[in-house]
Amino acid sequence: MVTGGAGFLGSHLCERLIEKDFDVLCVDNLFTGTKDNIAHLHNHPHFEFMRHDITFPLFVEVDEIYNLACPASPIHYQHDPVQTTKTSVHGSINMLGLAKRVGAKILQASTSEVYGDPAVHPQTEDYWGHVNPIGTRSCYDEGKRCAETLFFDYHRQHGLPIKVMRIFNTYGPRMHPADGRVVSNFIIQALSGDPISIYGDGSQTRSFCYVDDLIDGMIALMETGPEVTGPINIGNPDEFTIRQLAEKVIELTGARSELVQHPLPADDPKQRQPDISLAKRVLGWEPKVALEEGLTRTVDYFRGMSSTPAA
Ligand SMILES: NC(=O)c1ccc[n+]([C@@H]2O[C@H](COP(=O)([O-])OP(=O)(O)OC[C@H]3O[C@@H](n4cnc5c(N)ncnc54)[C@H](O)[C@@H]3O)[C@@H](O)[C@H]2O)c1
Repeated sequence: MVTGGAGFLGSHLCERLIEKDFDVLCVDNLFTGTKDNIAHLHNHPHFEFMRHDITFPLFVEVDEIYNLACPASPIHYQHDPVQTTKTSVHGSINMLGLAKRVGAKILQASTSEVYGDPAVHPQTEDYWGHVNPIGTRSCYDEGKRCAETLFFDYHRQHGLPIKVMRIFNTYGPRMHPADGRVVSNFIIQALSGDPISIYGDGSQTRSFCYVDDLIDGMIALMETGPEVTGPINIGNPDEFTIRQLAEKVIELTGARSELVQHPLPADDPKQRQPDISLAKRVLGWEPKVALEEGLTRTVDYFRGMSSTPAA
């Protein structure tokens, strides 16, 4: 079962699990996900879609749960912050309860946001984070932190086989075109010939992981034995400034867009880079797709969308 299976990452995961001959139940309330993302899977005999909000209990028979349901971009998770926290907290309780009932392994899609605006760089899994508990991003950051707590308490208290994966910025085809995430924003602005919006002076850095690499890491983690619980960072440690990303997008799209600076949003982390030593050691995983190659595939996807909404 993949919760959030009609979203960006979830749809790639469903696809990959079907290729690996799993029977896939995709559970999604279609808040940010779309049926278009999974349209190509609908007639597949090993695929089933169920419209359901995971803040309500679910009774199904499954043996592995990938819990990805949660809006992931600030525009979406700040739209209804109470529902965002509920999705992480009540949603996790419901999915953990289900896993306990049916004896399933369960993986949580956690996030680098649990590190907040990190005081340690790059971030290793033993860093506890630097998070504002009462800010406008807290519904997401603290929701995800509480979800991790719940996963580990179910593991300690009930012996549940858990996997906690801390995902760093990921990009690729099927990113929501209007969710304000930096890669999709820049590509859409460049393809439309609009100015590219840089928040702050563009010197803040990010690392960007291509979706295929991320899904490889996620499945590798699920396939580990019960002794591996995580948390484990999955991301691409190659670090770029936002300005470098914008320049690369302009180069690949052949756009003539200028760069325009806007004020930095509240609690925006200045630096974010995963230390992936643990993933390399435990999963034998590291990213393979370089930024230029991944961006080229993503630009092709956005070019191919029939109507690209403005970012
Ligand atoms: N993409 C990234 O860079 C990134 C980084 C860190 C963590 N993550 C995590 O990975 C997961 C997937 O992210 P994504 O980028 O694919 O985002 P997305 O918004 O495309 O996908 C999330 C999916 O969850 C669904 N959903 C939301 N609330 C739900 C609910 N209450 N019940 C059922 N379904 C619900 C949405 O409709 C959507 O299909 C999220 O948990 C996110 O926090 C993503």
